[in-house]
Amino acid sequence: MGCEHGVCGACTMRVDGAIMRGCLMLAVQADGCRVDTIEGVAGSGEVGDLQQAFAQENALQCGFCTPGMLLTAQDLLERTPGPSAKEIREALSGNYCRCSGYHAIVEAVRRTAEARARA
Ligand code: FES
Ligand code: FES
Repeated sequence: MGCEHGVCGACTMRVDGAIMRGCLMLAVQADGCRVDTIEGVAGSGEVGDLQQAFAQENALQCGFCTPGMLLTAQDLLERTPGPSAKEIREALSGNYCRCSGYHAIVEAVRRTAEARARA
């Protein structure tokens, strides 16, 4: 939880495959839905390469925004496999980071997109 007003993106999760703000949803609204949290996608290895790229690029400091950034970046890379820096910035524009200055985050996402394209 961050702002609890749907602004910061810290609470980002996936509900039936779509990115959602956890703070704007009642638990009962997820009844019967598939809910993916950062713990779930990290545990499955789905975002392992993104996590590694974030670490290599120093794309986090306090780490508070990182779960939301990873889920949003993963969503972007699934929809747009080769995003431009502008597209990455636009996709992440709803996720606030108060520490990193965004450049390293964008670079980590771009680097992951390149690596996935080569795989
Ligand atoms: S806690 Fe900030 S958007 Fe949900
Ligand atoms: S790393 Fe601290 S808010 Fe993003």
